[in-house]
Amino acid sequence: MPFRHSSLFQQPVDFLIAIPYTRTMLRKISVCQNTTCQNKGSKAVLHRLTALYAEEFKEKYPDLRIEACDCIGDCEQGPIVKVNDSLLLRGVDNQTALQLLQDPQPVMGQVMHVLEQDRETFERIIRGELF
Ligand code: FES
Repeated sequence: MPFRHSSLFQQPVDFLIAIPYTRTMLRKISVCQNTTCQNKGSKAVLHRLTALYAEEFKEKYPDLRIEACDCIGDCEQGPIVKVNDSLLLRGVDNQTALQLLQDPQPVMGQVMHVLEQDRETFERIIRGELF
């Protein structure tokens, strides 16, 4: 897939890496429950996140919403989890779910690294086309 230049990606790479560090407070976690993601375990991930939140993390994130969502269009990389309506986590398992609640910053930083490899998806997210 050819790289398409946009004004966003003419910024230094540090700009991309810096984004998650401004969004370390979790507000919303959406777990795709469409067929492909469910076949890869997204139902278990949603249950795990919900249980962990109820048992251990309610005080840390009093306003966090965890919910199911429909296909986000990144099915091959599922299970897909969307964070704060802006970042996509790919291939999420129960361990990543725990890490996300324990310390979102490095997990979200990892995501940005992945997204940087797939600039078209990243650009679509920034343009709001995937949400
Ligand atoms: S089925 Fe989950 S992103 Fe498409």
